[in-house]
Parts: sequence; C-alpha cells; structure tokens
Amino acid sequence: MNKNELASIAQSIMQKGKGILAADESFPSIEKRFKSIGVESNEENRRAYRDLLLTAEGSEEFISGVILFDETIRQKAGDGTPFPQALSKRGILPGIKVDGGAKDMPGFPGEKITEGLDGLRDRLKEYHDLGARFAKWRGVIDIAEGIPTTGCIEANAEALARYAALCQEADIVPIVEPEVLMDGGHDLARCYEVTTTTLRTVFSRLVAHRVFLEGMLLKPNMVISGAKCPTQATAQEVAEATVCCFRRTVPAAVPGIVFLSGGQSSERATEHLNLINMIADLPWEISFSYGRALQEAPLMTWKGLAENVPAAQKAYSHRAKLNSLARKGQYESKMESMAA
Ligand code: 13P
Repeated sequence: MNKNELASIAQSIMQKGKGILAADESFPSIEKRFKSIGVESNEENRRAYRDLLLTAEGSEEFISGVILFDETIRQKAGDGTPFPQALSKRGILPGIKVDGGAKDMPGFPGEKITEGLDGLRDRLKEYHDLGARFAKWRGVIDIAEGIPTTGCIEANAEALARYAALCQEADIVPIVEPEVLMDGGHDLARCYEVTTTTLRTVFSRLVAHRVFLEGMLLKPNMVISGAKCPTQATAQEVAEATVCCFRRTVPAAVPGIVFLSGGQSSERATEHLNLINMIADLPWEISFSYGRALQEAPLMTWKGLAENVPAAQKAYSHRAKLNSLARKGQYESKMESMAA
C-alpha cells in the first residue's frame, strides 16, 4: 500500500468544483434505463451511450472521476481510444465498480448482502493495469417494519471493510458506499437513526480492518424522508440532519464525502448538495457521485439516436455544471433554465 499515492488520488477526486459521474450500471440496471427511452440494451448501444457521457467536451471542468462497469472499462471510444485512457487524457480519473451486486441475505427476509469478495484481489490487480485508480462497492440497507437488523448492517459493514482493505493493498482508492434506501414510508428521523447506526458500524469495521482513512472516500445517502412518507422534510431540514449525522459518525481524517442521488430528482439532488455545502466549517470536502441525477437529462435527450448526441452531451455538461456549483454552495434554482 502506497499511502501517499492513495491520499493524493482521493484529494484529486475531491478537488474544488468537481465530482464523480457514476456510470457503472450493471446489465439489469442499464436495461431498465434504456427501456425508459425505448432502446435495446446490447453491447454497441451501451458503448455508444457511455461514449456520449465519457467524451462530452468540457465535462472535465466539473467531473474529476467516472465509475465504470466491467464491460465499459474494456470498451473503446469512437476514435478507438480505450475508455480509461480517453478519460485520463482529459484529467478525469477512471474508477470501477467491483461488487457483484446485492443479493438476498439468507435467514434475513427482505434484506440484502453484497457479494464479490472472492477473487477480488486478482480482479483489482487487473483493473489497476487497465487504468482504474479508484473503486466502488455498494452495500444496501433497507428500512421497513422490523428492518434493518443488526445482522444485516454488520454483514454489509464487514464486507465493505474487507473490500476497502483489498483496494488499498492494490493502490486503488476505495469508495465505501453503504446506501440506506429512500424507498420506504419512513420519516426523516428514522432515516437519521438508521444512517447513524450504519455509519458507526461501517467505520468501526473499517478501523478494525486497518483501512487508511485518508486514502478512502465515503459515498452515503443523504438523511432524507422516505419517498412514500406523507410528511416530507424541507431541503434545509435534510441538509441539517445530514450534516449532524456525519459530524457524529464520520472521522475528520476521511478526505471526502460524495453523495449518491438514490432516486431523488436531478434538481432536488443538486439543491440538497448546495445547502449542505453552505453549512460552514465542515471537516470534509463534500461533493457528488451521482448516477441517475446526472444521467436523467442526457438519457432523455439521447433516446438512442446519433443525431441527438451533441444535445445530450450539452444536457449532461449542464447538469454537471450545476452540481459543480452546488459543490461550492453557489447554485441557484434559476440556473436550471439557463443554457449549458
Ligand atoms: P444514484 O445516484 O442513481 O443513486 O447512483 C449512484 C450509485 O453509484 C449507486 O450505487
């Protein structure tokens, strides 16, 4: 493990005004996204869509890293350059999703455990050779009647810590993603309680596995009302509850927190990030690692048609720019309608 290198990669991802594009949808997830625009999910369509995002001119001003899927890290841009090199040439760090997905946890009805530790050491070596400098592993914690259980939180935290330790051994910065889902009918207070317990457990396992905190990044959910909760917290309440939760659970040695969007609308995700960054004296850099909230606009504009690529790239860069401003606390909703 090269600690200097890990810390410097983490800091480079967290540079001011920049964040991460999560473009690492698994085969079932990208199929779902393509279905919404009537496009078949085949290898060439997936390549063309990722090409659009990854080569969008000017996006490097707002994007410091992109999380790729295994298929994509081996594919090439339209000009024949492998995607990881196409990114690095423009100063964007290539990352890679390495988990094998969240599967039903045996003995724990309604809960998931993320697979993918077996053989991970060898896969990380290969990904590093292919150009990946950071990685992502997502654990999923659902809130409903009687869940999450301590068993589920502990099993996922242990897997995240083992993954993070293996990444650092390979000089790859681990993004540790324990996602508390926002699908349920629970309120903000319940999300706060579950996110707090989850983050405490995760950091206790990270420390137990001797993970170098300065050389990792955290990718959490915001503390937010469940999508089906009748009383939705305000954006300001979300920002304050989120920061309060992190102050109590995330060590200051962690250089950065990069949020997932988790099903929030693109505008909401940007507004929340902005309000969080307006809170003074935070010990970590706070940015975005959005999938849906960065891709919704370009996906809807593209619709699978080559002639729409320039407009879709513009829509993507505009969204990236707004999030870049939110990362500095300089976003205003009236900017939504301004041209890219
Ligand atoms: P969303 O922003 O769409 O939640 O995706 C981020 C991600 O990488 C989930 O693992």
